[in-house]
Amino acid sequence: MKRALVLFCALLLVSGTLSFAEEKEIDPKHELKQAFMRGKDLFMDESLGTNGMSCNSCHAEGGTKAGKMGDMTIPPFAHVAKKYPIYFKMAGKVMTLDQVINFCVTTPMEGKPLAWDDQRIADLAAYISWVDAKKEKAKEKEKE
Ligand code: HEC
Repeated sequence: MKRALVLFCALLLVSGTLSFAEEKEIDPKHELKQAFMRGKDLFMDESLGTNGMSCNSCHAEGGTKAGKMGDMTIPPFAHVAKKYPIYFKMAGKVMTLDQVINFCVTTPMEGKPLAWDDQRIADLAAYISWVDAKKEKAKEKEKE
């Protein structure tokens, strides 16, 4: 009985140390970079919608250049993360950045809305925010 207890305690100690080691390996900067890379891929991904369009069809060159929708000129992303929530004209109401992302998925791209906890929303937001804040760095990253 005593031996079993000692063994149990030893196991607890080992598993505790292991999980601590795992936690230490997570690098938040690396995680964010991964989200950015996934977001960048998603931005070019036509499978989010149903009409053959990707985000990039309207937000030209990854959102770094002005795009077109019919006669409408779509400005490149600028200070995007900072300015939300805003009154979003196209939808006619106040929205967060996540909601605008989903609006573009469901309306111009005729896709299914992404669930609020869908990682793809965060990934797209990570990408869009980065393009806004560090345009030149975004270009450098494309070359990597
Ligand atoms: C058919 C064209 C079209 C597609 C495809 C499209 N959008 Fe948009 N998007 C627009 C238009 C038009 C606006 C509004 C521009 C304005 O109000 O000046 C907009 C606005 C936005 C904004 C707000 C920009 C700002 O400056 O506040 C974000 C963010 C955005 N779109 C993300 C996306 C994402 C992410 C995708 C892909 C999932 C996407 N869009 C696909 C047309 C499109």
